[in-house]
Amino acid sequence: MPNISARSKAAPASPIRRLYPLARRAQQEGKKVYHLNIGQPDIPTPKAFLRGVKEADIDVLAYAPSPGLDVALRALESYYADWGIELREEHLLVTTGGSEAITFALNVTCDPGDRVIVPEPFYPNYLGYARLTNVEISPLTTRREEGFHLPPLSEMEQLIDGRTRAMLLSHPGNPTGVVYNEQELANLVELALRHNLFIIADEVYREFVYEGTHRSLLSYPEVADRVILVDSISKRLSACGARVGVLASRNAQLMEAAKKCATIRLSAPTFGQLGLAAFLADPNYRELIKGMIREYQHRRKVLCDALHEVPGLTFRRPEGAFYIMIGLPIADAEDFVSWMLTGYPGQETVMLAPGEGFYATPGEGKDEARIAYVLKEQDLLSAVSALKEGLKLYHVAQQAPTAA
Ligand SMILES: Cc1ncc(COP(=O)(O)O)c(C=O)c1O
Repeated sequence: MPNISARSKAAPASPIRRLYPLARRAQQEGKKVYHLNIGQPDIPTPKAFLRGVKEADIDVLAYAPSPGLDVALRALESYYADWGIELREEHLLVTTGGSEAITFALNVTCDPGDRVIVPEPFYPNYLGYARLTNVEISPLTTRREEGFHLPPLSEMEQLIDGRTRAMLLSHPGNPTGVVYNEQELANLVELALRHNLFIIADEVYREFVYEGTHRSLLSYPEVADRVILVDSISKRLSACGARVGVLASRNAQLMEAAKKCATIRLSAPTFGQLGLAAFLADPNYRELIKGMIREYQHRRKVLCDALHEVPGLTFRRPEGAFYIMIGLPIADAEDFVSWMLTGYPGQETVMLAPGEGFYATPGEGKDEARIAYVLKEQDLLSAVSALKEGLKLYHVAQQAPTAA
């Protein structure tokens, strides 16, 4: 049999989804599993979006133009203008989710063997995409105790070598919830200018800010030609299945290359773009997003209050997005998460995302897990009670002599 490629073997399975077979088995055995492992919100997709899909007057479900449907591009121009970000059609490319925007961004900035600096813990699919494009991640480790804020410029600079082409960061952060302050953003800009780097700014959680304010990296004129925005409607419209994202940049040469890549994959989903255009045409769309953010703010409080009651847990209140990276009072989070799905005796259990897959540095994150607070209040509370009970019983199970 011919061999499969080394790079597909090197690409890690998403730590968020890897343990699904165990969750499925638990569900088949009649258990209720609270999925706090994945950023799949339970908030209904806005009616205006769904109407745009259902009432689409089309005879042929055709390919959209490769850069995006005109209605979607125009709607996006006005959405960004509302955020004070002036982007015209030539700066925008509609992609198949933020996921495709990340791969395009890596493909247009890096050649095989080039390096990208990424603050860790990071969105784990960054590592998957880097492996598939033969790009190396240079991890910049950030710490829970420091709220996952960035180290000083001099420390970041130590990671740069002749192969470093870009920085890639999620802002607000998944899984950290960090919202970078003005000084941190100024340092990133300075680093990009000093070392001639691109900044791939993944701002899919732009509106999800509970403390401080979010400033887009696109708002710095001095790096206008080197910032590449990755965006997505998955979270802010609770429309993960629409598969619509955006890549945006004011660098004409880069956009030309990205749009050429886009012709290779023909088009992004037509229905998702129609839904997006209909949603952004609703005069109440800002209010709808604000209402959703208020709900997440509430969930953050509910979750943090409940987690404070769990002995041995360590965490910092996240400033944005909808994730918390927690430190667990155990050595091997992956073993604990698996045990919660296979060995925990309760009828209701919880699935978390083990922390190690959010790091590129070996050994980091072993005692951490990520929680996504994407479920309603009562479900969050039930999930945390299962977690609390689970930690107690897991310690007992660990100490019990194994049967011969
Ligand atoms: C930081 C970040 N970037 C990108 C994505 C990918 O989003 P999409 O569903 O648009 O592909 C996600 C999804 O969770 C994410 O958290």
